[in-house]
Amino acid sequence: MSARIIDGKAIAEAVDQEVARHVQQLVETYGAPPCLCVVLVGDDPASQVYVRNKGRRTQAAGMISREIKLPATISQSELEGHVKALSADPVVDGILVQLPLPAGLDSDAVIACIDPAKDVDGLTEVSAGRLVLGRPGLRPCTPTGCVILAKRSLGDLKGAHVVVVGRSILVGKPAGLLFLAEDCTVTLAHSRTRDLAAVCRSADILVPAVGRPEIIKGAWVKQGATVIDVGINRVNNPTKGQGATRLVGDVAYDEALEIAGAITPVPGGVGPMTIACLLQNTVQAACTRRGWTIG
Ligand code: GUN
Repeated sequence: MSARIIDGKAIAEAVDQEVARHVQQLVETYGAPPCLCVVLVGDDPASQVYVRNKGRRTQAAGMISREIKLPATISQSELEGHVKALSADPVVDGILVQLPLPAGLDSDAVIACIDPAKDVDGLTEVSAGRLVLGRPGLRPCTPTGCVILAKRSLGDLKGAHVVVVGRSILVGKPAGLLFLAEDCTVTLAHSRTRDLAAVCRSADILVPAVGRPEIIKGAWVKQGATVIDVGINRVNNPTKGQGATRLVGDVAYDEALEIAGAITPVPGGVGPMTIACLLQNTVQAACTRRGWTIG
């Protein structure tokens, strides 16, 4: 039987609408909407597309979107100066530095310049520490989106075995902790994991986040499992002519579709949820900074 397709776009639209309602409440209470500032360094085409989409959705939710575009030749100290200025700017509620940064720039040092109260990416040491300790805080967006999609698909996640493939700071590590907070049993697999296929086959919920096109085969998926595919990989599409491309996930989708119980498509699965969670974090940061509880 074919898997149920988890419609990330529709779920993200519902989150966006809820965010827009909260923005309206903030405007009515404080007279001004939250402000999200995205910093883009260099001219990586994929990052440019992500940043443009973030700006569009931020504005659609009624918030102020600011973009700071900087050349790839910028020095480390100049870039840190920009981020420190945003941290000190009372008008700015959220700061996101688009990653990866161009070669030669130290992203850890740049992230350390973000005021944790404005860390809508959940990447500072303070945010990561709060996540590990189970305290309230701003959580990384993509893994938060994965948990929302899994919950929408399965309801209660208690006791489910989640296998996350990948251990990045943006997705893999925080995803493991976020699923643990839902009382899941979590395995964090990675490039050195022995018999990755067998580990994946033990998953009730499989979350590949490695950025390698279709590396997870259908035969690696347990019958009836839920697959939340984080990968967004651009590959050649010779059927559409020379130079044409298409997006695929980390999972061999057509194969997995026949075995999984539910699966996210690429595009239209996890991708739209990342921005929805970024908008949610921006509202959360704005509320916390104003000492206001969302009603
Ligand atoms: N690049 C790809 N995804 C992300 C993300 O969630 N946050 C940041 N800062 N950069 C990214």
